[in-house]
Parts: sequence; C-alpha cells; structure tokens
Amino acid sequence: MSYLVLARKWRPQKFDDMTGQEHVVRTIGNAIKMDRVAHAYLFCGPRGVGKTTAARLLAKALNCEQGPTATPCGTCRACTEIAAGTSVDVAEIDGASNNGVENVREIRENAKYLPQRDRHKIYIIDEVHMLSGAAFNALLKTLEEPPGHVKFIFATTEAHKLPDTILSRCQRHNFRRISAARMLQRLKEIGQAEGAGISDASLSMVVRQSEGGMRDALSLLDQILASCGPNPTDEAVAEALGAIDRTVVQDFAEAMVRKDAKRVLERVEEVFNRGLDLKRLAEELALQLRHLFVTKAIGEAPAELSESEQKSLQGLAKEADTAQLSRLFDVVHGCIWDVSRAAQPRLALEMALLKAIQLAPAGSIPELLARVDRLTAKADSGASGGRSGPANFRV
Ligand SMILES: Nc1ncnc2c1ncn2[C@@H]1O[C@H](COP(=O)(O)OP(=O)(O)OP(=O)(O)O)[C@@H](O)[C@H]1O
Ligand SMILES: [Mg+2]
Ligand SMILES: [Zn+2]
Repeated sequence: MSYLVLARKWRPQKFDDMTGQEHVVRTIGNAIKMDRVAHAYLFCGPRGVGKTTAARLLAKALNCEQGPTATPCGTCRACTEIAAGTSVDVAEIDGASNNGVENVREIRENAKYLPQRDRHKIYIIDEVHMLSGAAFNALLKTLEEPPGHVKFIFATTEAHKLPDTILSRCQRHNFRRISAARMLQRLKEIGQAEGAGISDASLSMVVRQSEGGMRDALSLLDQILASCGPNPTDEAVAEALGAIDRTVVQDFAEAMVRKDAKRVLERVEEVFNRGLDLKRLAEELALQLRHLFVTKAIGEAPAELSESEQKSLQGLAKEADTAQLSRLFDVVHGCIWDVSRAAQPRLALEMALLKAIQLAPAGSIPELLARVDRLTAKADSGASGGRSGPANFRV
C-alpha cells in the first residue's frame, strides 16, 4: 500500500478522538441525542483544526446504520464509505472550484430526490465563502426550507466573507486553534504509535511552529521523520524545521526590553552561526514586539499564540512601558528592509538592535512621573517646618 501521510492516517474517526473542539462536539452530540439536529451547519475556524473531519463525523452520525447516534459504529457501509469519501448520499463539494450558480442549481435539483440508500442526503461544502453572489442567492431558498432528508454542512476559514442571509440560516460553530498542551499530547500519542523516538522538546518545537493547526503539526512531523529518520535528535529537528525557534525570538524580545545589549549580540551571533536568515529574524522580532505592544495595550496576549507564550508575553509586557515598546518596534520594523539589502546583514541588524535598546527613551513618561513624585516628596520633606506654600524647586 502506498504511504499515507500522517494527517490522513490519523484523521479522527470518532468524535472522542478529536483533540480540542469539545464545545462543538458536545453541542452536536446533544442535538443528535435529543433529535434536534439543525438542517444547516456552518463550521468556521482556522486551517487544519478539524472542520472537515467534524463534518464527516456528523455525516456518519446521521447516516450510520445504528444511528442517528453520537457514536457511529464506524463499520457499517454508510460509515466506511463516508470515511473513504465514496458514499452516494454524502456529497463533499469543494466550494472553490464549484462556485457558480449552475453548481448550486445542480445541488438544488438533486436535493429534491430521496437518498439512495441512507437516512439523509448530506451536502458538505468546503471553502463555502468562495461561492459567487449569484450562487449564494440560488442557495437561499433551499437553505431556508430544505426537504426533510437533506442536511447541509458548510466549512470555511473566512466566515466574514459570507452574506448575512446565509449566516442567519445556519447554525454556526466556531472551531478554535488547538491548545499547545493538547496538541503536544496528541503528537506524543501519534509519535509512539508510529514507533518514532522523538523527544518532547522536539515535539514542542513542532507545536510552536504549527500555531494551533493540527494538520500543520502532522505535516511537519511527517517532514521530520522523512528527513531525519525515526529517531531524530533535537538539533536535527530544529534544523529540519529550518525556522527560527520561537524561544529564540522570545528571548530576543526579553533581552531588548531589559536593555541587555550583551545578550542581544550573543543571540545574533548564534542565529548567524546557524546559518539562518537574518531578515527572517528581524521580521519575527518585529512581530514579537508587535505582540508585546498589543498585550500592553489591551491587557491580554493575542489569542493566536500558545498558552505558554501568552503567559510569558504578559509577564514581559508588565516590565516595559508603552513608549519603550513603541520605540523598539519602530527601529526593528524599520530595519527589516535594510537588513534584506545590506552588504553585511549581520552588521545592519546588530546596529539596529543596539540602537533600539540605547535609544529607548530613558525618560519615558512613567519613569518621568516617578521622578517627579520622588522629587516632590523630597521637596515636601525639606520644606516641612518652613513655608506652607508650594515648594519651589526645579525638576
Ligand atoms: N481537532 C483535531 N483533532 C485531531 N486531529 C485533527 C484535528 N483537526 C485536524 N486534525 C488533523 O488534521 C487533518 C486535517 O483536518 P481537517 O481536514 O478536519 O481540517 P480543516 O479544519 O477542515 O482544515 P481546512 O480549513 O484546511 O480545510 C485531519 O486529517 C487530522 O489528522
Ligand atoms: Mg477542510
Ligand atoms: Zn455505522
């Protein structure tokens, strides 16, 4: 048999196998138990977090010979065919390439007829936001009152592109990025089952780089096992991932906020010696400073980051003040272009980073206020016993 990539091999076949997305699984499970399944679902969320998987599971749940049930058997004809994508009564349609009004008319015509074998006729439309305006309009009537045997399941990464008329006719479920801890757990299980001797530290690198997307994580794992063999060392994994490790970027940001010029220079040297792209480093660093600024401004770290990163950003944001962060960001962001064009990218980057640290306003507003407070207190205590009017001093 030909090699099946991990993401396909490990597509969850039961709702219980899904990592994260419990809020969706629970609601759908209850709806099935209580026989209150909606006629149109919309699954939204980032790439590779389980939308298509959940759509297929819902189709199985509805059409399983033992069903409708939240725990489809997985062995009957309906279940196995849905898993293989060959069921006659479950159509998986790619909205990107079938986006015209004629495609929707075809669905509409087809939907009138009873299912050929199973309980429901189910239309799964992926990337539904790609449908044309006319196609959406053609869908409205059927979506409002489909025949009893028809169910629609739409999936999209860009729900904001859907017309309100469609949104209001669907039951919407928002899929989330998968938390770092849950993802690590799942990767460990898969790694073990595949007989791969890969360390937790290596898997964490994969988790960080995949940013909450399980498909990305599994593709990276595939890539690592293919290029480094079944027992890769941490260095080999870092190398295979080819990118700048998130911890390196975090460490840079911390050193800059703490004005630790020595550490900044050491880190640049490390990255340089590893042969990584310095422009990429500058870009990553600008992004990290942006995250830090956002965290400072709104009091919480961007949701797209892993939990551990969110925590460390929040800690670091407390140490910095807005003026300093703004300055750091400006200089680092401004140097990306220079670094990409410089004859000596390393020098350009080093100088920019040092400048950012040195020029970070020594007298930022909170610091100045603190100084004023100290001086006022001093002046007050010096003036006690003397005049009662405002102390006369210069800051
Ligand atoms: N929540 C999850 N739990 C376990 N595995 C998952 C999960 N989400 C995704 N995967 C893995 O990633 C693969 C792709 O998932 P899926 O096709 O469901 O993603 P998607 O959300 O539809 O992505 P896209 O927006 O790119 O279509 C699955 O085959 C599975 O291996
Ligand atoms: Mg999908
Ligand atoms: Zn079944």
